[in-house]
Amino acid sequence: MLFRGWGASVDERWPDVATVTDHVGVEHLVVTRHALVRQVLADPVTWRPDNALDAVTPIPVAALRILAGHRFRLPPTLANNSGASHPEIRGIVAEALHPARVDAQRPWLTDLVGQRVARLATALAAGEPVDLYAELAADLPLLVLARLVELPDAPVGAVKEFARAALELFWAPLDADRQRALAAAVGRFHTVLRDFAATGGGLAAALRAAGHSPDVVVGALFFLLVAGQETTSQFLTLLLHRLAGEPAVRAGLRDGTVGVADVVEEGLRLEPPIVTWRRVAAVDATLGGTAVRAGTSVVLWLARAGRDPEVVAAPAEFRPGQRGSRRHLAFGAGAHRCVGAQLARMEAAVVVAQAAPLLDGVTVVRPPWCPDNLTFRMPDAFVVRSPRRPAR
Ligand code: HEM
Repeated sequence: MLFRGWGASVDERWPDVATVTDHVGVEHLVVTRHALVRQVLADPVTWRPDNALDAVTPIPVAALRILAGHRFRLPPTLANNSGASHPEIRGIVAEALHPARVDAQRPWLTDLVGQRVARLATALAAGEPVDLYAELAADLPLLVLARLVELPDAPVGAVKEFARAALELFWAPLDADRQRALAAAVGRFHTVLRDFAATGGGLAAALRAAGHSPDVVVGALFFLLVAGQETTSQFLTLLLHRLAGEPAVRAGLRDGTVGVADVVEEGLRLEPPIVTWRRVAAVDATLGGTAVRAGTSVVLWLARAGRDPEVVAAPAEFRPGQRGSRRHLAFGAGAHRCVGAQLARMEAAVVVAQAAPLLDGVTVVRPPWCPDNLTFRMPDAFVVRSPRRPAR
């Protein structure tokens, strides 16, 4: 389960908490029940977030040297910061992502998605295959994020390559050759970030003005560039794929009996792009009747918690608006709950509203394929095609 926490494994029978040994012999306590996941997230003193960005495959010296060559450092800033600086850094990021600022991006995004959807509809009508990941979902969140927080003026492709390399380096089972290649990709972009952190405007300037060190500014930007765009483009792809197989939901969207916001929430519950998130036991503790030693890695199975029959009426079914649908933990909970939730929801709502009709009558040529990863789904493509209409 550890590296494929979606699909079949998410519906198998599991105890409330289970010890699972990973590929390098480290034991993790996997938490499967909604109430227990919530309990852990709500108590950052007993269950600290310090291990959130620890590499699940230890990084060997050769790859560490490559990172060091780029002066790579990742001090605790956001997700893995249990220190006193967390509330202030989080406050500055939250200000940049304030709901009013997010809402102000909606018309621009609606326009952009509308143009893309029109182009894709034409291609589909001509019988061409269309990759809804590459041609619709992949770069949208990054484009919006750049408008909200000012990002280094790097090509979209370079940012995506860096972000996906980071997700693999820190959360995938890997061999040493691959780790070196990923370390080079992550390190290269870290250098770009370091320059931008020293001189850039927007969020970088706000963090500098609050007196944070260059390492902290780089750390915050690093996390945002990964968490703030890869997650959402993955989610958009997974949600569109799911909707391709849910004709009744699409019909409801069409005739107005199903709400877009409800579809987004049900999507987050059933297709979360982040399937697990980690905490570490700070002290000896008990969880669901199981004794847990201080230092234990705790893997919170967010995807599974979203399907807990204690919480949701029809756990495996995509029923927008059903009881418990919105109680998913796709954005975590408590002091570290996702700061970008509002933004991700807005982006998903804009895409669902406009792109769902594209799925009517298509066949799936290539479903998303997801590599082994502890935490992120990382779909690679989603190709559909309409049957070509016979020429008259
Ligand atoms: C569907 C898209 C997204 C999902 C599923 C998601 C999920 C998560 C999860 C599970 C966490 C950890 C929460 C915890 O520890 O309790 C998190 C943290 C975070 N997310 Fe997101 N996220 C998404 C999009 C975004 C976006 C768009 C941004 C910003 C532009 C963002 C920024 C952050 C930040 C800064 C944190 C760390 C918060 C802290 O530690 O105080 N996320 N997210």
